Amino acid sequence: RSTPEMLACEQCSLHLTRGRVVPGHGNPDADIVFVGEAPGAEEDKQGQPFVGPAGRRFDRQLAAAGLSRAEIFVTNTVLCRPPDNRLRDFPDAQLRCPPLWLHPVLQQVKPRVVVAMGRTAGALWFPGMGAHELSVLARNTGEYLVVGSLHPSAALREGGDWNALDDSIVRSIRRAVELLAA
Ligand code: URA
Repeated sequence: RSTPEMLACEQCSLHLTRGRVVPGHGNPDADIVFVGEAPGAEEDKQGQPFVGPAGRRFDRQLAAAGLSRAEIFVTNTVLCRPPDNRLRDFPDAQLRCPPLWLHPVLQQVKPRVVVAMGRTAGALWFPGMGAHELSVLARNTGEYLVVGSLHPSAALREGGDWNALDDSIVRSIRRAVELLAA
């Protein structure tokens, strides 16, 4: 799902500091698309989303909900890493990146369900909602259903091997899968 234009994008200030643009990855015909925040250090090196610590956590949460990466498509609200992961300092990226790259890729993949993981992705469809409010929200855009969720690394920040936040994320993923079956 990447194009030469995407990989060379200079439409916001993050192009000055990024290593690589990180396009979405996974099944181009997926019924379910997961949207995170922005690439971290490892993603910025490898050019793939969710391959660092948050990605390992995400893989376990997916598996617990009975899904694998091969079945899904995963991408981010913003495709370039913000310095020190401080996306909040780059409102230009948050404003410009989704219409340029996220919305078009959703139109290509045509998922039936989108899982918005964390406040940044959540703000695209549920403006002003806190992370925990998000995990009980769902919405029909007319093109797809959006399910809110905590961000996979919320559980990482909490520490521990597996905790209540992981369980909340797994419940959100299961809800998305149930909506697919409905
Ligand atoms: N966190 C995200 O939101 N996205 C990634 O790709 C990696 C970590």
